[in-house]
Amino acid sequence: MKKNKIALITGVTGQDGAYLADLLLKKGYIVHGLKRRSSIFNTGRIDHLFNKNRDQETKFFYSYADLTDSSNLIRLIKKIEPDEIYNLAAMSHVKVSFDTPEYTANADGIGTLRILEAVRLLGIENQTKIYQASTSELFGKVQEIPQTEKTPFYPRSPYGVAKLYAYWITVNYREAYGLHASNGILFNHESPLRGETFVTRKITRAVANIALGFQQSLFLGNLDAKRDWGHAKDYVKSMYLILQQDEPDDYVIATGITTAVRDFIQKAFNYLGINIEYKGSGTEEVGLMSEIDFSRLEEIIGKKVKYLKPGMEIIKVDPFYYRPTEVDLLVGDATKAREVLGWKPKYNLDMLVEDMVASDIKLMKKDEYLKQGGFRIQPQIEDIL
Ligand code: NAP
Ligand code: GDD
Repeated sequence: MKKNKIALITGVTGQDGAYLADLLLKKGYIVHGLKRRSSIFNTGRIDHLFNKNRDQETKFFYSYADLTDSSNLIRLIKKIEPDEIYNLAAMSHVKVSFDTPEYTANADGIGTLRILEAVRLLGIENQTKIYQASTSELFGKVQEIPQTEKTPFYPRSPYGVAKLYAYWITVNYREAYGLHASNGILFNHESPLRGETFVTRKITRAVANIALGFQQSLFLGNLDAKRDWGHAKDYVKSMYLILQQDEPDDYVIATGITTAVRDFIQKAFNYLGINIEYKGSGTEEVGLMSEIDFSRLEEIIGKKVKYLKPGMEIIKVDPFYYRPTEVDLLVGDATKAREVLGWKPKYNLDMLVEDMVASDIKLMKKDEYLKQGGFRIQPQIEDIL
């Protein structure tokens, strides 16, 4: 009988970890997730994977680990003997990395080294493939448009710089010790499971709350930044494909289309029949509701709307969300991934926006949301897969 492949996913409680674990389990893998200790439950995205009643065979396991703790990682990798390691764990918030630069370097930069060293020390270079979650943040102040695997890097944040170290140490271990270690240079990818403080989810949650009458306005930072946004469900497939290749290599994963934050906002409200117009500039800029198609809005949210009217100012700028150095524009060219991996995204931006807004409407409408004072912030993955 063919043995099930064993995957180890660091950062399994995060957005990508949840989608990837689900994908690999469906492919017949045994999946071990690493999670760090938290003072509250932080397994909302993967709860459906646990066999809570212990009544049948399970293929999903988790262990406590932290990327800042080498002995912990070595012990677990020795015990689990994974065929594939997906290193997704990271302090992944760019703005927060300006506040916690040293920790970010430790977890995101040296953390990657700890995984590579563990594989080398344990002498399992020939049996364990490694995926490193690299990022379009490496391109930062972009040196060419669109960005490819050959575009020079110019990171613009402590997060980007930590990930630069992780990228190159992965390449170095591949060249120096023959590890099957690859970088996926993924552009922004979002989903209903996206963390609530990233801009897309912050917007779709607020759009749902404003439509339902639970929130009056949304404060954001730079509305002009442009990102190449895809769906996380498509992007985790590229991680799997990268590790199925005979040879390790580095790949850009992107949609090739870039959109400004202000236009993402527009799309999210348009889905509900609301049009936004902007007036003013800089910190004085506001976005107001210029038109409302009440029949569409009421049909989607399932209730009468008396609390919204054209002219209401709902988008405001708060410089708190500005970054000391910004990445103005990202747009990737994923030709290599398409040609070598056969990777092609199924979702376009309109489908992504609809998936996120519809999920947040459903989530915010649940009674629990109000009862818990707004604390139910993650949908259950089984509701949306
Ligand atoms: P995410 O939702 O923020 O998840 C990050 C995961 O890492 C969480 O499970 C988190 O645990 C865990 N983690 C953080 N610090 C850790 C530590 N010191 N030790 C162990 N675990 C730790 O991020 P994501 O969007 O899924 O992204 C996955 C990876 O891809 C990250 O490395 C990110 O930098 C990278 N990436 C993301 C994108 C994107 O657009 N999403 C694009 C390019 C690259 P908690 O749940 O306890 O916080
Ligand atoms: N988070 C946030 N909050 N961003 C805002 C806001 C706000 O209120 N207002 C405007 N923005 C702008 C940011 O300044 C940035 O230019 C853009 O929206 C996107 O911000 P994020 O959603 O926080 O994502 P990111 O692009 O900085 O980083 C994400 O993508 C990277 C890949 O390019 C993260 O997932 C990183 O981990 C990932 O590597």
